[in-house]
Amino acid sequence: MGRRFEGRVVLVTGAGSGIGARLAERFAGEGARLAVLDVDEERARAVAQALPDAVAIGADVSSREQVKDALAVVRERWDRLDVVVNNAATCADVPFEAVSDEEWERDLAVDLSGPYRLVQEALPDLLAARGVVLSIASVNGLTHLGNDAYSAAKAGLMALTRGLAVSYGSQGLRANAIAPGTIVTPIWDERLARDPHVLDTATRWYPLGRLGRPDDVANAALFLCSEEASWITGTTLVVDGGLLAGNAVMMHDITAQS
Ligand SMILES: NC(=O)c1ccc[n+]([C@@H]2O[C@H](COP(=O)([O-])OP(=O)(O)OC[C@H]3O[C@@H](n4cnc5c(N)ncnc54)[C@H](O)[C@@H]3O)[C@@H](O)[C@H]2O)c1
Repeated sequence: MGRRFEGRVVLVTGAGSGIGARLAERFAGEGARLAVLDVDEERARAVAQALPDAVAIGADVSSREQVKDALAVVRERWDRLDVVVNNAATCADVPFEAVSDEEWERDLAVDLSGPYRLVQEALPDLLAARGVVLSIASVNGLTHLGNDAYSAAKAGLMALTRGLAVSYGSQGLRANAIAPGTIVTPIWDERLARDPHVLDTATRWYPLGRLGRPDDVANAALFLCSEEASWITGTTLVVDGGLLAGNAVMMHDITAQS
């Protein structure tokens, strides 16, 4: 692949870990200048240090003030912003009856209101650049797989994506989302600690026979943010190894076929 993002400025939230860190590396590998934003500034720094032209920003996307300060850093350094990737998320891993107000509000604040605030504050820059918004949603926003607050936020993020696409398409802005299935990242560490076999168990549900990798999301993300996708907006690309295409485990159970 050529260098599709030469000279572009890309801001990735939650870029200190997992999918976001890989996205930052892959954008940088194709010539982009990177704003590596994470609420954990140390992690952001570790990722940014390894990139040719990057700034680490410690910020909580749920805070409008911190989002404004983060954008001020980007403007000061490069005076442009071409791509915003809404990737940061929290996920309260508790059953519906046990979700507290704090957990519910936190997931909504980070996973849905964060992107709303960031894109609203960055809109002048994105319109000037005829830029792109990419939001990392989840299969949880398309079918119920637990995590009620997270799932509601991710469904909302896909609606926000359509709204941005329709409202600002005539000014050259594109907005798309990706809905990944299970991607092996540190987000799974807590569940792995509870059940060391959880990833093997999850694999059985995937028609392609393996779980996802951050690069699977990055391949789709770079395409959607590139000129190759210049007539694609308002859509959600499902990147899930076939999970939502059908129900492999149920099919096996009721037909005894794999
Ligand atoms: N890993 C999966 O199985 C999976 C599946 C579907 C969707 N996703 C989505 O992909 C994205 C990345 O997930 P991941 O697995 O790489 O997670 P991760 O936990 O490895 O990384 C998330 C990063 O976001 C940061 N973050 C959390 N709250 C923040 C805030 N308020 N402001 C700024 N940064 C914040 C964290 O510090 C962390 O570095 C998330 O949106 C997640 O919902 C992941």
